[in-house]
Amino acid sequence: MTGPELWTEEQRRIATEAEAWVRAKLDKESSGHDWRHIERVVSTARTIAQAEGADSFICELAALLHDMADEKLNIDPIAAEQELARWLANCGISEHEAEHVMEIIATMSFKGGSRPPMRTKEGQAVQDADRLDAIGAVGISRVFAYSGAKGRPIHDPGILPRGNMTEEEYRNGRDTAINHFYEKLLKLKDLMNTATGQELAAGRHRFMEVFLEQFYAEWDGRK
Ligand code: ADP
Ligand code: NI
Repeated sequence: MTGPELWTEEQRRIATEAEAWVRAKLDKESSGHDWRHIERVVSTARTIAQAEGADSFICELAALLHDMADEKLNIDPIAAEQELARWLANCGISEHEAEHVMEIIATMSFKGGSRPPMRTKEGQAVQDADRLDAIGAVGISRVFAYSGAKGRPIHDPGILPRGNMTEEEYRNGRDTAINHFYEKLLKLKDLMNTATGQELAAGRHRFMEVFLEQFYAEWDGRK
């Protein structure tokens, strides 16, 4: 369908307002959900939406707003979700569009386990874009930033990657940055919804494999 250049004036205004709201809220974030993460997810979602023929305006709003009700950013996630629903109801889009964006945001988070599959092409595009931001060079950078913020070690050969985890274990267990590759990042390539997402994930996945190989060689002092 259409990219931002073909949106109506009204759609442009709504996207600009959504961006301003998100920026104001996330500017000071350091948990890996900062404004730059949103910006990257928006860019990638645009690429996927265009290639997959998804509604780029719905994708843009969902990508911009996808972390606004996240439990890591909000002391009261239920209130944040209500605020988000109110914002969408009042921003000038149809009720149907508002519900679609809410549904995408509610279904897309990973949270250490599986969620119901994304129902629409737009949801699939935005979820792929969010997951793609956790892998590749950017994904590697985010793991170490997140681990550092949590005071966790880069690597500890004595701490093994965990298999199935509860949400509590996923968030708060004893963990290392390197283990997170096995617990999440290396699994994401196979969870892509769209062909474009799969294509982008393949390159980023290979880059992580090369990174890990090099990491272990250096860790062991191999020549
Ligand atoms: P989302 O909310 O998009 O599912 P998360 O909150 O799980 O993402 O993760 C945000 C970023 O922090 C991601 O890049 C992820 O890889 C990284 N991250 C999450 N949990 C860990 C962890 N236990 N160790 C290292 N990095 C993590
Ligand atoms: Ni995200």
